[in-house]
Amino acid sequence: MSIKAPKGCRDIFEPEVKQIQYLERVYRETAEAYGFMEIRVPTFEQTELFQRGVGETTDIVNKEMYTFMDKGGRSMTLRPEGTAGVVRAYLEHGMANWPSPVKLYYNYHVFRYERPQKGRFREFQQFGMELFGAPGAMGTAEILSFLHSFFQRLGLHDYSLQLNSIGCQDCRPVYNETLRSYLALHREALCPDCQSRLERNPLRCLDCKNPKCQEIMAEAPLPSDCLCASCAEEEAALLEILARLGVSYELNRQLVRGLDYYTGTVFEFVSDELGAQSAFCGGGRYDNLVAELGGAETPAVGFAFGVERLRLELEAKGLLPEGETRPVLQLISFADTADEALILAAKLRQTGLRIETDILGRSFKAQMKQASRLEPQYIAILGVDELAAGQVELKRQADGQTEKIALEALAQFLLEGERRCQN
Ligand code: HAM
Repeated sequence: MSIKAPKGCRDIFEPEVKQIQYLERVYRETAEAYGFMEIRVPTFEQTELFQRGVGETTDIVNKEMYTFMDKGGRSMTLRPEGTAGVVRAYLEHGMANWPSPVKLYYNYHVFRYERPQKGRFREFQQFGMELFGAPGAMGTAEILSFLHSFFQRLGLHDYSLQLNSIGCQDCRPVYNETLRSYLALHREALCPDCQSRLERNPLRCLDCKNPKCQEIMAEAPLPSDCLCASCAEEEAALLEILARLGVSYELNRQLVRGLDYYTGTVFEFVSDELGAQSAFCGGGRYDNLVAELGGAETPAVGFAFGVERLRLELEAKGLLPEGETRPVLQLISFADTADEALILAAKLRQTGLRIETDILGRSFKAQMKQASRLEPQYIAILGVDELAAGQVELKRQADGQTEKIALEALAQFLLEGERRCQN
């Protein structure tokens, strides 16, 4: 039997690769404009990092991790998300002593053993950011301002940003108790997962997809009912800054996130174009995680989005650029000039321009046929006479106009033409 790519993993080629490169470029430029530095961390980490970081009660840790024993008998896991590895690096490299705030962004693949469907894969690409040392509304506003600006640059204006506050270490325990008392009344009707969540982390029941649990949760007390004064003030301050930034939002009091480290403000960007996988970006504050992993108390906030979901969203809205793949010039050669054409093409390519030339010994007719497929801007025929004269006749394909150009002036001519096109 032939070998296929693993289930939920994809081969990606053009034009999609070009679209991803475009998203990567805009993401990097916007991140750098906001003063974020790129970080790259290992693809796999000690399993314990995710167990302690993401949380033992989450689906990600319980059901979705790719975990293996290495040859030294250590348990390792392919990263199922980006935050835990960045926090580990923050601690390992003493970034708490760097000038504050520490602003990091990343672009890497993550791995989750989920049931594949549209916009849901087992290996997928995330863009993310983590901001350490900026407490409260200002830190969160910086992150949401970044996302707003990034989406604006992509031409994406009609997204929905959903916000909630799930409480801090002071008010969350109060909420947990309130929710536990309510859920205890419905214990028998809850799914087995929620029955165990009820003891360990009742907040996660708000996120359950089981229809019976959803019915029960529709009447449940919400985290916003129990917010302490400081969480409520922080949320009010954030909403005011967002209004002044022109960022629109909806308060979604049911919103909790699928990872345990969140505290206070959480958010998701959702789209109506993506079917069941409607969230294309999620994040929030996680003010306790650095301390939980062994550091000092450190305010932190971040997000990640699935690049494929963002790409689908932009595609559905017709917001992806076409991407130029046409060559600028195709050199047509003959058996006795093919080497010279190859050498000339190599020189011209040093300018960064896309140049095509035949390397298969094809006939003149076959090369012209290829040209009609590749649609170069110019065609030049390089025969022995042209080589002897040191010049070629360039034919502009758009209007058939021809011009004789000396071989040594060719690079300059094409570059200037390219500049004229871009202006
Ligand atoms: P998350 O919500 O688990 O958060 O994932 C972020 C985004 O990754 C989702 O909104 C979605 O677009 C995408 N995503 C998740 N699962 C899949 C999948 N199976 N296939 C394709 N795309 C997927 C986090 O990962 C947190 N680390 C975000 C964060 C950073 N919070 C604070 N800092």
